[in-house]
Amino acid sequence: MRNDRRAVFFSFFRPVIVTCFSLCSEWSQNNLVGGSRLRYMQQWTLLAEQRNDCKNLQTVLPPGPCAPLQAELLSSFSPVRGLRAVVRETTGSHQILEIWDSHGLRKTLDLTALNKHGRVYNDAQFGCLSWSGCESRLLYVAESNQSSSPDLPGKSPCGKSLQDRSVYREDWGEGLTSKSLPVLCVVELETGNVSVLRGVPSHISPGQALWAPGSHVVVFVGWSHEPFRLGLKFCSNRRSANLSPLFNVCGRTECLSEADVSVFSPRLSPDGTTLVYLQGRVFGPHNQCVSLHQYDLHSKKTSILMDVVNRTNAGECAGIYESLPSSCWSADSQRVVFSSACRNRKIIKVTLFYLDLYLSEFYGSWKLLAIQKDLMVIYCSSPNTPPTLRVGFLPPVGCYVDWQTLHQPGLTFDLRWTVLDVTPTTEEDNTEYSGLDFGAVLVKPRDHFHGAKIPLVVFIHGGPHSQFPAEWNSTTAGLVKLGFAVLMVNYRGSTGFGQDSILSLIGRIGTQDVKDVQRAVTTALQRDATLDPKRLAVIGGSHGGFLSCHLVGQYPDLYRACAARNPVINAATLLGTSDIVDWRYSSVGLMYSYDQIPTAEALAIMLERSPITHAAQIQAPVLLMLGAKDRRVSPHQGLELYRALKSRDSPVRLLWFPEDGHSLARVDTQADCFLNTALWLQQHL
Ligand SMILES: *[C@@H]1O[C@H](CO)[C@@H](O)[C@H](O)[C@H]1NC(C)=O
Ligand SMILES: *[C@@H]1O[C@H](CO)[C@@H](O)[C@H](O)[C@H]1NC(C)=O
Ligand SMILES: *[C@@H]1O[C@H](CO)[C@@H](O)[C@H](O)[C@H]1NC(C)=O
Ligand SMILES: *[C@@H]1O[C@H](CO)[C@@H](O)[C@H](O)[C@H]1NC(C)=O
Repeated sequence: MRNDRRAVFFSFFRPVIVTCFSLCSEWSQNNLVGGSRLRYMQQWTLLAEQRNDCKNLQTVLPPGPCAPLQAELLSSFSPVRGLRAVVRETTGSHQILEIWDSHGLRKTLDLTALNKHGRVYNDAQFGCLSWSGCESRLLYVAESNQSSSPDLPGKSPCGKSLQDRSVYREDWGEGLTSKSLPVLCVVELETGNVSVLRGVPSHISPGQALWAPGSHVVVFVGWSHEPFRLGLKFCSNRRSANLSPLFNVCGRTECLSEADVSVFSPRLSPDGTTLVYLQGRVFGPHNQCVSLHQYDLHSKKTSILMDVVNRTNAGECAGIYESLPSSCWSADSQRVVFSSACRNRKIIKVTLFYLDLYLSEFYGSWKLLAIQKDLMVIYCSSPNTPPTLRVGFLPPVGCYVDWQTLHQPGLTFDLRWTVLDVTPTTEEDNTEYSGLDFGAVLVKPRDHFHGAKIPLVVFIHGGPHSQFPAEWNSTTAGLVKLGFAVLMVNYRGSTGFGQDSILSLIGRIGTQDVKDVQRAVTTALQRDATLDPKRLAVIGGSHGGFLSCHLVGQYPDLYRACAARNPVINAATLLGTSDIVDWRYSSVGLMYSYDQIPTAEALAIMLERSPITHAAQIQAPVLLMLGAKDRRVSPHQGLELYRALKSRDSPVRLLWFPEDGHSLARVDTQADCFLNTALWLQQHL
């Protein structure tokens, strides 16, 4: 997003400043025919007028055409000159950096040929492409050229000594398997000089880097990789620090944050005085409620802007559970804007003045994509409404936002959705964290045949510390279009319900969460007489697959079908293969340390909590979908259940995806999984 031209008009007496904003949006779309994920860009021109303190959108011009983005790994606009930097992959697998301006391509650097570093990172964990304040330098993260990278083209394995070529290289786990030792890289645009920033301590993997004012200092997050690397994806509980080395000066790195915490999402204020970032605990739940901190670059003092929220009360802030948007500051550097889970919804928050924006109930969820020069770009969605792109100016304190819709979804869906609040019974209450409730989102067809009841599919999210906000989900919408009702359950331990809810699940997986899902199902059936209690099915992935298999094992008479994606089946055997071994201990309530050696007691607890112990009771037909390259939950987990069911002649069907990891995210895999799930449910309900 950038702001390029500026024009001043005068009307009678009162000057009105008209500003022109140029907004660039990037989209992705699954191309089922080609089996590829397309990315494209669309540009909008907005005219805003300012009277006194208030900015308002005056005109939204029709958008430009959708232009495909070819092989772009990263891109970034410079805020002042409007230059666009792109890291692109050529057909020969070279990575090149391009700088575009209003006259076309201005500069090209072949980063692969320069051979200063390995592949450039474009993941959400480490990756960045950051312009310096003077817009003459760029900062990004790449694999070090020290670590052997077998997939690097044009680099023969003989480059390494024969003796070392088989040495094991650790990586950062699921979704980050090609990432091992990142380095910070700086390009001088004038000279084309690419250099690897020295001075990062050798036990640290740097990422999420940005320039501090003056273009000589960078700030980054450093994750400790000693004594060994643990998986990072979906884990906000890894030891890390905000660090700041002086550019060009070797060996001087300053730590800005506290020791023994987890930090991420550093964002610098436009005036360059304040750094905000998120901070959480190390180990324990893999994803937690985190606090928002600010670091004053002049006084070097840190303070808390928003603390961890233990309990959520109606109408109050529910805490922060996810990364900050890449730009989140107001133009005057006084406010920070971000979105976060809030019970069964996702909403936008403004901090420093703790102002809540007025967000209509029409949409279930609101997500901030970016804010620049006080123009907020957001998308809203609901279970029956695909994401809608909207813009509005951050108002002065106490005023409402005048939201305008830029892009409406091409399709509308005639589905109904409601949010259910669910209260555990006295026996199901958690004595340590008493009085916690949870929620669920029910989506169903608007019309159904008179008298005929609707079959219910219970959809369980993974994590367990994630959530189902009341937002668009194509799997849910697809199933409802086919005539099913879908109940998405935010059992205790889901994000958005406070830190106590998250902690309440530790040591109680396989019992508390199973009972919560069952309680949500009972509640939905009681409150909605159109649902058919005789036609129930359960689906879910990862921890949601674990719960799905528990439910068909523990309530064999209730469920008539199950579809599980990469489920945890036997936590004891998973211990040795998961990239997040710490979570295997924490989930069953045991402390973890890097030098831990398994004991018979620990393995016994893990086995006891696992669905495999109920496998002999399972009657429902089970569909298993497994990714052969899953590093989080090994596909051998699903195979254990497959064999247990096969040997008992219990109906089971196994889909095996050789090229997929934990998320089964390849385009053709997604289509295969949805079709097979839908057919499985139709066949057995
Ligand atoms: C790694 O990069 C440095 C410059 O950053 C260069 O001097 C060195 O030769 C490179 N090493 C290899 C093995 O390519
Ligand atoms: C490139 O940058 C490095 C690090 O700043 C510096 O040591 C080197 O002299 C520069 N090379 C050229 C040709 O400017
Ligand atoms: C939240 O709970 C923690 C203990 O889990 C406690 O130390 C902290 O003071 C509590 N915070 C508030 C605001 O009550
Ligand atoms: C739908 O929900 C599932 C389970 O949480 C999630 O894995 C999937 O990414 C969601 N799909 C969309 C399109 O949001």
